[in-house]
Amino acid sequence: MDFYEVIRTRRSVREYKKDQIPEEVLKKVLDSARIAPSGSNRQPWKFILIKDTERKKKMVELCEGQEFVAQAPVLIVACGKNIHYNRGKWMGDYSMIVDVAIAVDHLTLSARAEGLGTCWIGSFDNEGIKKFLNIPEDVNVVALTPLGYPKDPNVFKETKNRKKLEEIICYETWK
Ligand SMILES: Cc1cc2nc3c(=O)[nH]c(=O)nc-3n(C[C@H](O)[C@H](O)[C@H](O)COP(=O)(O)O)c2cc1C
Repeated sequence: MDFYEVIRTRRSVREYKKDQIPEEVLKKVLDSARIAPSGSNRQPWKFILIKDTERKKKMVELCEGQEFVAQAPVLIVACGKNIHYNRGKWMGDYSMIVDVAIAVDHLTLSARAEGLGTCWIGSFDNEGIKKFLNIPEDVNVVALTPLGYPKDPNVFKETKNRKKLEEIICYETWK
């Protein structure tokens, strides 16, 4: 699939089929996260794959009752180890979050290329998930996404729901 078509047609998918993901496809998608860039190549991430039905159900509660997180065959919890360090100073506390976000973006685009749906989940109970999944103290959850085949095969449509380029680009200085 053309790279730009992948980017243009990735959509948040909130309804999934139960169909399993072939292992080689799952590996390909996860590998896209693995090779993402990170500050000083620290790769501060870890991805927890939840397939167990009961565990996924409990995760709904920990994601503010968003039922669809338990619908897909896999729920991915993207975690990052806090490093509080960055040569750019103020970014220090955010650098881990940036790194993990890039990896998750790789994953979501790769999923789209494979016909798989994702939905970035940012509303969740970090402390609750950490407790439930035995995540260490110095690690936090950055995002979650279900991963599975969309119920509606036509969900991958281009969106018009974005600001215009002229609104978000300026030249030389902020204006
Ligand atoms: C940081 C972040 C947090 C988000 N959190 C949620 C969420 O908790 N639940 C949800 O259904 N969608 C969530 N979304 C998905 C956005 O609503 C969605 O990306 C946006 O409306 C644009 O739609 P699109 O992804 O189909 O292009 C989140 C997206 C991002 C990037």
